[in-house]
Amino acid sequence: MKKIIALSCSPSRGRNSDTILDAFMYGAEKNKDLLIEKMYLSDIPIDYYTYENSTGTLPHETKFKELVEKIQSADGLVIATPTYNFSVPAHLKNFIDRSRFFALDMNKKNTLGQPVGKLNYLGTYFLVSGGTPKWAETILFFAYPPFWLRGVFLYFGAKVFGAYYTGDVHAFKNKQVLAICKKRGQRFGEQILTGKKHGILERIFWRPPQV
Ligand SMILES: Cc1cc2nc3c(=O)[nH]c(=O)nc-3n(C[C@H](O)[C@H](O)[C@H](O)COP(=O)(O)O)c2cc1C
Repeated sequence: MKKIIALSCSPSRGRNSDTILDAFMYGAEKNKDLLIEKMYLSDIPIDYYTYENSTGTLPHETKFKELVEKIQSADGLVIATPTYNFSVPAHLKNFIDRSRFFALDMNKKNTLGQPVGKLNYLGTYFLVSGGTPKWAETILFFAYPPFWLRGVFLYFGAKVFGAYYTGDVHAFKNKQVLAICKKRGQRFGEQILTGKKHGILERIFWRPPQV
């Protein structure tokens, strides 16, 4: 049995990114032998990053510790998030900042002098909602979360299978968008089950620095 964690990161439940995540999960669940667990990031208090908490969770961060353990025993991670000011909501940014201790090996350096990513067991996918039309996001792709999220998780050493962006502020009731997400979810599930490597763009453009 392979496991996927579906992390819903919008403060608004039942709206755009949360609903496209449900559609994605519905598609992924068509694959037998896949266990998908949905979690809301807003249910998980996480302190801001400081030097003192840089090496792990603190005793009072029980839910964060649980999330980290779930990710460490998972094969896949789907992050669904809205676009906030060309970035992601603060809580998701903070979760990613705090992920350093389990995502990077600070004792190892690659040829660029950077720490080595530890998430090579994890296949990732990103679902992003926004108010900017899709065509504008396509042109300005580097200024939107799908690009940044893929970059961060490649840096963390994860397998990146892709990202989906919708600029429809009513994505939660857009049948076409939901159908696309179901299909993407089904494909992601297959990729997790077959242990595939990166998505096509990542395979072409990303060469991890030699350790
Ligand atoms: C505080 C805030 C900042 C936003 N900033 C952007 C932005 O920079 N670019 C964009 O395309 N949409 C932006 N939006 C629009 C949301 O990304 C959009 O409404 C999205 O569908 C909300 O997703 P949700 O329903 O999952 O929360 C912003 C919305 C809010 C509330």
